[in-house]
Amino acid sequence: MSDPAAIRRADSPAPARRGDFLLAACQGGAEAALCERQRLVLPKLAKGAWRRGLVTFRLPPDFDPPDDFAPDLVYARTLVRCLGQATGSTTAAVAGQAVELLGGQSWDSIHVWNRDPRADHDIGGIRAAIVTALGAGITAAKAAAKTRPGDLVLDCVVDTAERWWVGWHRAATPQSCWPGGNYPLALPADKISRAWLKLDEAIASFPIPLVAGTRAVELGAAPGGACQRLLEEGLEVVGIDPALVDQRLAGRPRFEQWRMRARDVRLKEFRGFDWVVSDMNIDPKSALESIGRVVTAPGAGPRGIIATLKLPDWSRASALPGWLGQFQSWGYAPLARQLSTGGREVCVLAIRKRSARRRPARRRPAG
Ligand SMILES: C[S@@+](CC[C@H](N)C(=O)[O-])C[C@H]1O[C@@H](n2cnc3c(N)ncnc32)[C@H](O)[C@@H]1O
Repeated sequence: MSDPAAIRRADSPAPARRGDFLLAACQGGAEAALCERQRLVLPKLAKGAWRRGLVTFRLPPDFDPPDDFAPDLVYARTLVRCLGQATGSTTAAVAGQAVELLGGQSWDSIHVWNRDPRADHDIGGIRAAIVTALGAGITAAKAAAKTRPGDLVLDCVVDTAERWWVGWHRAATPQSCWPGGNYPLALPADKISRAWLKLDEAIASFPIPLVAGTRAVELGAAPGGACQRLLEEGLEVVGIDPALVDQRLAGRPRFEQWRMRARDVRLKEFRGFDWVVSDMNIDPKSALESIGRVVTAPGAGPRGIIATLKLPDWSRASALPGWLGQFQSWGYAPLARQLSTGGREVCVLAIRKRSARRRPARRRPAG
């Protein structure tokens, strides 16, 4: 066996009870969009109850998902096989009941998070109480270590101080290694804007194969956090935006701003870029028109697109399949995800398919 995840998996077999429900953590407000996506990609599941930030799906008896089940639900940050709800009047009492529900199981890692991120429950205290109640169910070294792919994770979703849901998942994707699928980094003080953190999460979670020395163009670049993040990867960056970028970016080597709207850039200027990043605060339809202009420009054909599609309201989420179809029509394979550090928006990573050749530059008509 050469796969290290497989070796750890053998050490910590999944619980015998698979759990009859899946808990899907999502951004508050994204519940309906998540259910719509589930009906599309996992129609066998039946929606159960939902609360802000958490949707429950019933697993049908004839459907036994694999251990590292990670369907393309876009709005789900993480999925948990629910083993029940623990209640009690003190943290120690709830932790004791939680451990009973979990059975005499060994764990590689523990994730505790608030169902509603606006809540202020004592996550550290609850985690410590679970570790104590587990006893030999987790070693001190494992309880202190970061989660790695392959780990069997005990999940505890805190609803109120006296009521928690408990269950498990097998860590596989990067975000399934983060408690609640929430990116564990805060925005460092020296970064220009929150877009730095969003791109940092996107790079970590998809992941995105950026290579130093390659060229990126960003549509909607001001004030400049995303360009700053691209420069940190060693890329050469052009930021397009009518608004001025931050002074910390303006004078940097390998950076240039084209101060105009994306649609005013001449098509031939889009040749030679490896990546198109788009983060414009405009309707997705207009954003896609601008992205399409870049990737289909004669002589252009970037390797990948990283696009933020901002939803003016949640009802627009139903248009996502059509938007992803546009990336397909340009010869790209899109993956979509709602990032935990973003707002009401979807991040799309689209990599050019092997079969999609660069378009030859058209000759200018004479005269
Ligand atoms: C959310 S901000 C972008 C944040 C930026 N990516 C960063 O890293 O800080 C949206 C930007 O899109 C720009 N924008 C809107 N429409 C645009 C267009 N048609 N062409 C270029 N930029 C546009 C706005 O001027 C605004 O600066």
